[in-house]
Amino acid sequence: MSFDLVLFGGTGDLAWRKLVPALFQAFRHGTLPAGGRIIGVGRDTLDDDRYRALIQERFHQVEGDKRPQAAQEFERFAQMLHYVRADLSKAEDYAPIRECLHTRQADTVVLYVATAPALFIPVVEQLAAAGLNDERTRIVLEKPLGHDLPSHRAINAAVRRCFSERQVFRIDHYLGKPSVQNLFALRFGNALFEPLWRRETIANIQILIAEELGVEKRGAFYDQTGALRDMVQNHALQLLCALAMEPPINAHADAIRDEKLKVLRSLKSWTPQTLENHVVRGQYTAGRIGGIDVPGYRDESGVQPHSGTETFVALRAEIANWRWAGVPFYIRTGKRLAQRDARIVVNFRPAPHSIFQSPVGCVNQLVIKLQPQDGLELHLLSQAEARGQSSTISLAPVQLDLDFDKRFGAGRVGAYERLLLDAIDGRLNLFVRSDEQEEAWQWVEPLLDHWRNDAQGPRPYAAGTWGPSASSAMIARDGHCWNEEA
Ligand code: BG6
Repeated sequence: MSFDLVLFGGTGDLAWRKLVPALFQAFRHGTLPAGGRIIGVGRDTLDDDRYRALIQERFHQVEGDKRPQAAQEFERFAQMLHYVRADLSKAEDYAPIRECLHTRQADTVVLYVATAPALFIPVVEQLAAAGLNDERTRIVLEKPLGHDLPSHRAINAAVRRCFSERQVFRIDHYLGKPSVQNLFALRFGNALFEPLWRRETIANIQILIAEELGVEKRGAFYDQTGALRDMVQNHALQLLCALAMEPPINAHADAIRDEKLKVLRSLKSWTPQTLENHVVRGQYTAGRIGGIDVPGYRDESGVQPHSGTETFVALRAEIANWRWAGVPFYIRTGKRLAQRDARIVVNFRPAPHSIFQSPVGCVNQLVIKLQPQDGLELHLLSQAEARGQSSTISLAPVQLDLDFDKRFGAGRVGAYERLLLDAIDGRLNLFVRSDEQEEAWQWVEPLLDHWRNDAQGPRPYAAGTWGPSASSAMIARDGHCWNEEA
């Protein structure tokens, strides 16, 4: 099968940090169909050779084992790389792109739009005007798709006018992570958890996506975005869907997406009380991470000196349906937190009547570790080692521990590698449908409105901590605590 993959934003950060290295991994693993072209599109005046040289040079900043090990390895891969110069805001600049694609009629054309969000509508419209939306074509849209509900709807309307839904691949790279796919496998490949996966047995669920990194070189973009739009509206809510959805009738894209959509539709709407008590936003100040001093958010390049943008969000959501009524789902995400850690903690209810001396609180826990380790822990109670003569048996915590990195090896397919291959092959399962995205925007919109009118602004937290203390207070009001504070 021949394919042309066009990277709009071909010289941008995402392209050289994530997309091209992911394609290189697929090339290395022999999974990238032979006879393909990867065509970078950007505003810089480059030709194929200079684009290849640029990518080769940028590879030095990619993780060691993801770089080409020898010049010949890069050269073989680089044969696939091409470049077209275009200013995507100008209609006439689409002609060379069309010409490049028409020089050979590839079986599949994948248009990957990784540009500034403001360009989405013009790009989509110009592609259609240039006739680059035929049956062979798929379009991949990076997040964030919009800035709020109205802008999201406007983008979707333009996309719908120009492409049919089955041509549209809305990416959320969390869905491509092996650990997240494993979550689906865990829930729907095993009968074991299903009877326990409900309000009668589960006390609460915590979703944590903590980053050590700050805003890096994306200060100007991030300052317009914030953690709610950057992480909660998409990645965190997709994880929540994977946890809370009903078993789909099969593994087809729409069966899975239908079930995820129902979860998003069942999220309890915000009220003035929950907006006040069930959300905490924070912003990092200077601190220390891994023994190194790091600046505060407002001192990052590209960030406004009095910025009110949140770099941390903790919130409590509830799903109003039979399975989950009354079970809090806590989401917590932030930059410059104490460590990089993405995990889901399912806290089960305690035994209804204990005949032993046992520790208090939620002792049975399923911890699904997403990154940096990919693993699973099941926390149980066992008999404590008996010392001396005692008639009462006391219990002690123990855990079953699965390490998927060790079990399946380090060479697992990365998120972007998987998703790019899926887009080339036309598999939509791990992509997000427009109604899901719209529903997610609809749910976060009241938070955005509330913050716009809330003079208090985000609460400060020192870089290298777990966020503002108000987030611990929020969960403590329910009688729970964050997993790492247990
Ligand atoms: C991106 C966000 O979608 O996800 C970034 O825009 C964030 O701000 C990144 O750093 C986190 O992804 P990962 O795969 O490193 O957890």
